[in-house]
Amino acid sequence: MVFCPDSTASLVSPSILQQSFCIHTPLKLGIMASGNGSNFEAIALAIKDGQLSAQIQVLIYNNPKAYAAVRAANWGIPSVLLNHRDYKSREDLDRQIVQTLQQYDVEWVIMAGWMRVVTPIFINAFPDKIINIHPSLLPSFKGVHAVEQALAAGVKITGCTVHLVCLEVDSGPILMQAAVPVLPDDTPETLQARIQVQEHRILPMAIALAGQSKPQKIPNE
Ligand code: GRF
Repeated sequence: MVFCPDSTASLVSPSILQQSFCIHTPLKLGIMASGNGSNFEAIALAIKDGQLSAQIQVLIYNNPKAYAAVRAANWGIPSVLLNHRDYKSREDLDRQIVQTLQQYDVEWVIMAGWMRVVTPIFINAFPDKIINIHPSLLPSFKGVHAVEQALAAGVKITGCTVHLVCLEVDSGPILMQAAVPVLPDDTPETLQARIQVQEHRILPMAIALAGQSKPQKIPNE
């Protein structure tokens, strides 16, 4: 018998039906990204396709070369560069982030590849309303190089996690996870690509799920 692993296999939990995305006042999102921004793009597409009732108020990026900023411009979404090198401390940067998010009337903050540690100044300004995506099945492989950590550990299944942000890095309450197989000849790049397919699926769903759990005004009721 030939073992033929399915590289597209995945398991998402909790699974939620598209129809369960109730109609609320659209969630007002602020997205924070440091790099490519493929998760930013996935959120924008989910909104456009009607899978997520939300609007992206602003993108904040900290790296002048972040491709996420180009994506925001292509969508006509405002973006603000807050370069961490311009601030004396993490707290100073976080104060400016909070001010910018408030200025754009942001309600939910999505850290979609934001590669900076945040402080209580930021977390306390948006209690239980900051969401992060991490490329492992937390609580395994916290911190940087999560995909490399999974390969080094020899696990046969890994994945991605969407969770609420708390002070301890990659540790807040888990909203949704997707699992993918690790294949025998995987490199960090091939495994990362397989995980990202799932990130792009579950991040918009998890935002919808989080937004629903605190229902807002339902029209005509
Ligand atoms: C993702 O893999 C996410 O899990 C991690 O950073 C990466 C961002 O990718 N936190 P992209 O910039 O959205 O393409």
